[in-house]
Amino acid sequence: MKTTTEKFGVTPHQPSLWTRADALKVRADDPTTTQPLVSADFPVLNNDVFIWDTMPLRDLDGNVTSVDGWSVIFTLTADRHPNDPQYLDEDGNYDILRDWNDRHGRAKMYYWFSRTGKNWEFGGRVMAEGVSPTAREWAGTPILLNDRGEVDLYYTAVTPGATIVKVRGRVVTTEHGVSMVGFEKVKPLFEADGNMYQTEAQNAFWGFRDPWPFRDPKDGKLYMLFEGNVAGERGSHKVGEAEIGDVPPGYEDVGNSRYQTACVGIAVARDADGDDWEMLPPLLTAVGVNDQTERPHFVFQDGKYYLFTISHTFTYADGVTGPDGVYGFVADSLFGPYVPLNGSGLVLGNPSSQPFQTYSHYVMPNGLVTSFIDSVPTDETGTQIRVGGTEAPTVGMKIKGQQTFVVAEYDYGYIPPMLDVTLK
Ligand code: FRU
Repeated sequence: MKTTTEKFGVTPHQPSLWTRADALKVRADDPTTTQPLVSADFPVLNNDVFIWDTMPLRDLDGNVTSVDGWSVIFTLTADRHPNDPQYLDEDGNYDILRDWNDRHGRAKMYYWFSRTGKNWEFGGRVMAEGVSPTAREWAGTPILLNDRGEVDLYYTAVTPGATIVKVRGRVVTTEHGVSMVGFEKVKPLFEADGNMYQTEAQNAFWGFRDPWPFRDPKDGKLYMLFEGNVAGERGSHKVGEAEIGDVPPGYEDVGNSRYQTACVGIAVARDADGDDWEMLPPLLTAVGVNDQTERPHFVFQDGKYYLFTISHTFTYADGVTGPDGVYGFVADSLFGPYVPLNGSGLVLGNPSSQPFQTYSHYVMPNGLVTSFIDSVPTDETGTQIRVGGTEAPTVGMKIKGQQTFVVAEYDYGYIPPMLDVTLK
């Protein structure tokens, strides 16, 4: 893999490593890094659709932004099929779990609006059917560009392939609500290259998605984070001393962990508009540790770069584990070196009694963390569950140096604006 670059005045860098030794420090159920229990009697945002990944409208600096007093979120969304024979079980009852598990294949981008930063009103689909070039519209980021209401929606066009794309439209407000207009021309930006980032040809289980563009607070340039896997044929990666880190005697065996190759990718824009991008080597790799570092995003605070990414228990490598949730790393400069927050990287995990209660956490610069409800047990043994597909309670978190602390819990889907833009 190419590990240095000297493009567009970008300093050459080595990816930082999330090591097996770091991951051995993960402690599930530490109250300072565990999401409070989500009750099984949660309210559902909308009974016609499942929603999951939530993408607040924001500016290029990361600030969650309302327009004319209206908060706006985008969500990955799929219809619920309570009456579709395909989703009825042998007794004729709706098999909601199967419907929920199938949602990724029909994910579409929808938007919602609110005067209060919660109790979201249904807006509708962002792009009309047929605009997006692939079957799936996967996660990304809506950016409010200016006070004319122009919005660049960066997202992932998936199946066939996985391409980072963007589509430009406009947010329009009235005193009664918000609409999204335009969003008619999707522009492909880039795909995995096989050199730095793994391609589908190298690994059928590759990940390449979830663009998060931002302006670097220090150099002012336009960059983009995304989820990737380290390039190379599946099974060819080496889990060596660097990837293992400083482990105690008896922890040297890496098992089959060469199959877990997640990384956080970064690209730099060649132009001011973000239509032309150059991929750079990953900021962070997790070879031998975990196979997915999804929806990477930053909080810029105290002159530091707080890099957050979501991951799962099931994507951990042999010999290491941790809860579903959000993990974090901090550096003094954009290209690192990054060190895991709280020693291990774990920032906010699900409690072990409800391992799937929430996912797809997004840490906002005000310390609030939004996520969606996946499933919550309804009995002691955890065999009965209630499927979510709706917004989870927002968690308040303090970020201090290399540590984070859960400090508060708020209403379901509470995503207050950090600034308001009055449209001209
Ligand atoms: C996270 C995620 C994203 C992806 C989407 C697919 O929940 O896996 O990485 O874009 O969901 O539904």
